[in-house]
Amino acid sequence: MQEKTVETKVKIYTFDELENGYQHLLNKAKEQVNKAYAPYSGFQVGAAVELENGEIFTGNNQENAAYPSGLCAERVAMFYANANYPNVAVKTLAIAAFTSGKFLPNPVTPCGSCRQVLLETESRFGKDIPVLLYGTEEVYLIENVKQLLPLCFEKSSLNK
Ligand code: THU
Repeated sequence: MQEKTVETKVKIYTFDELENGYQHLLNKAKEQVNKAYAPYSGFQVGAAVELENGEIFTGNNQENAAYPSGLCAERVAMFYANANYPNVAVKTLAIAAFTSGKFLPNPVTPCGSCRQVLLETESRFGKDIPVLLYGTEEVYLIENVKQLLPLCFEKSSLNK
């Protein structure tokens, strides 16, 4: 028998400690919560995707009376970016969540389906995507999506 431990590295900052570019992208994600369509959960999420060409695409969660038909903020923003620039790699992703009238003190991390989608973009362009997760008390910086989805199923798993 062998045992393997899979670790995820998370760097924890206060907002003020972050470099300007990261603060700017997080602010874009924060702005987006105001435009979320979340009448069912009341949980408003904003996401901002910065591309290597400097363009920023934003999105928020879009809910539906048929609950599973809705889509998370990260996927809205990432699909939006990839749909417009299919040949440009993603530089950074930022996410923020707002509920009961305030941003949460600790970061919200992407759901499993979003992790799978984000991983596809990361491997599609062969370039790490650092992920910034906003909280009023602490901001997480995770160096790539793979860290969020260890033991993943990806393109290479298909052997194609
Ligand atoms: N949600 C996101 O948009 N992103 C996340 O990372 C977590 C969850 C949305 C989905 C749903 O509209 C609401 O938050 C509650 O789950």
